[in-house]
Amino acid sequence: MKRLLHIIATPREEESRTLQVSATFLEAFQEKHPDWLIDELDLSKEELPPLSAKSVSGKYVLLGGKDLYGSLKETWQEILQHIDRFKTADFFLISTPMWNFHIPYMLKHYIDLIVQPKYLFHYKKDGTTEGLVVGKKMVVITSRGGQYSGPLKSFDHQEPYLRAIFGFVGISDIDFINVEPMDMGEETRKQKIADAQKIARSMGSNA
Ligand SMILES: Cc1cc2nc3c(=O)[nH]c(=O)nc-3n(C[C@H](O)[C@H](O)[C@H](O)COP(=O)(O)O)c2cc1C
Repeated sequence: MKRLLHIIATPREEESRTLQVSATFLEAFQEKHPDWLIDELDLSKEELPPLSAKSVSGKYVLLGGKDLYGSLKETWQEILQHIDRFKTADFFLISTPMWNFHIPYMLKHYIDLIVQPKYLFHYKKDGTTEGLVVGKKMVVITSRGGQYSGPLKSFDHQEPYLRAIFGFVGISDIDFINVEPMDMGEETRKQKIADAQKIARSMGSNA
């Protein structure tokens, strides 16, 4: 069964503007692909393992071209489960608000856990890196209090970062729906959410 991994990085549940647009995308996607499994990973509810001195040492073992050994294997069990859940998904949907011009810390934590040498990227003989998650598509739905498509564009560290990190692991086919501005009046917010839902519906039924 094919699987869409929906990574949620807002704790606001029913209050979330981002999730209102994601819900529309998912509705259209599920109409088109009724046989797909929607696998929801809610990062505010998930207890992600910490990046402790020991778990981080595993990254350096892998960077040195070696396999995890001894008790490191046990320390990495949960990390490997998250890597596997990500890597075996067929389609990715990320729902994230902008927090301080970037992504919320729980999404960064998740990225720091899963982006690991040998699993999501590797070094080629010439020393350059190559992403290992290939041929897959990602849709990112963000919402922001302000407006970043105009003079404040350079403050948007969210879309460029997400394109860079997921491009690094091999996912270059990424579409963004940035819902903005959300915190500049109720009328504007409602209108922008409705506009974004139209785009999301069309994107979901063409995915
Ligand atoms: C901790 C925090 C930081 C925020 N930082 C920004 C910011 O840097 N720029 C911005 O435009 N909005 C910022 N916002 C506003 C949210 O991006 C905006 O309200 C968004 O629509 C919330 O999405 P949600 O309802 O899906 O959680 C911030 C909100 C919070 C809670």
